[in-house]
Amino acid sequence: MMTAPHWTPADIPSLDGRTALVTGANGGIGFRTAQVLAQHGARVLLAGRRPDSLAEAAARLHAAVPAARLETVELDLSDLAAIRAAAAPLGAGETIDLLVNNAGVMDVPERRTTRDGLELTVGTNHLGHFALTAHLMPALMRSADARIVTVSAIAATWRSGDLTDLMSERRYRPMSAYAKSKRANIVFTQELARRLDGSPHRALAVHPGSAVTNLQRHTSTGRMGRLFVALAARTLMGSADGAAWPSLYAATHPDAANGSFLGPVGRDQTSGAPRPAPMPAGADSPDLGAWLWRESERLTGVMFPALQT
Ligand SMILES: NC(=O)c1ccc[n+]([C@@H]2O[C@H](COP(=O)([O-])OP(=O)(O)OC[C@H]3O[C@@H](n4cnc5c(N)ncnc54)[C@H](OP(=O)(O)O)[C@@H]3O)[C@@H](O)[C@H]2O)c1
Repeated sequence: MMTAPHWTPADIPSLDGRTALVTGANGGIGFRTAQVLAQHGARVLLAGRRPDSLAEAAARLHAAVPAARLETVELDLSDLAAIRAAAAPLGAGETIDLLVNNAGVMDVPERRTTRDGLELTVGTNHLGHFALTAHLMPALMRSADARIVTVSAIAATWRSGDLTDLMSERRYRPMSAYAKSKRANIVFTQELARRLDGSPHRALAVHPGSAVTNLQRHTSTGRMGRLFVALAARTLMGSADGAAWPSLYAATHPDAANGSFLGPVGRDQTSGAPRPAPMPAGADSPDLGAWLWRESERLTGVMFPALQT
């Protein structure tokens, strides 16, 4: 893949006429992603589970980008009926050019389940986005060249991200559940990319590096946790602005190829175009992709439409 070493989000071409949907757009990396897409002329659907927070985010974004064309979509990714209710009308009539599957939870202290009985972290981060993407597929296929960008994490490469015991029924460990969910984001993207091969549409996964956001809210409970996050923030972690670069590049750059897994460059995360990131072992295996696809359809009861490529 070509890289553009001096790329910055200022190089994003006009997105006039493009419609983007960003999940988890009310804060953190998702908000920044939505803001930059809007700045470049995209109509942006801000998706989130809390209407008050979404309205506040839309107002904040309008203040920063007065010409922004924004709509809000109430979407709880831990509730399959709510996902269907939010996405089915869009699937029926909309054209969506850019889908950024960004929302996520991390480090949930004890095993909890979604409304449908799925382990919460994998249920939200992977299965929620799997169901959403499936329902939005007709809207995406109406685009001349849709991109589906799914935000993973470097945690996807951890050994504990092994996808056996996907629902953590045998043993629940908070960060293993997170690593599984983020590995699943990549395996899903790889399988989707295979299914889109030969079409003008692309599926890409990214990891944002690290940034202090609400994602660490469980880690930062207790004195030691707060100290750890504060220290890490000062020494290791970047800003949500920089952490949005990989998503923005994957969503807009002509050279960002179908099936890529891209991550940031440099400690400040903003030293040029994101570059290919290490693929977790086996994550690009067609057998694993086919297995996860079947398992995701079984667990969600949502059948992915056949893709006409
Ligand atoms: N920050 C990092 O260092 C880092 C590193 C690697 C990967 N990532 C990934 O980057 C993505 C964005 O994270 P962030 O750092 O920006 O964290 P964040 O500030 O906590 O944002 C996460 C977003 O996801 C939303 N969300 C959580 N559960 C949801 C649900 N059930 N339905 C709908 N939306 C839900 C949150 O909504 P509420 O405000 O309602 O909770 C919030 O908008 C995540 O996928 C994360 O795994 C982040």
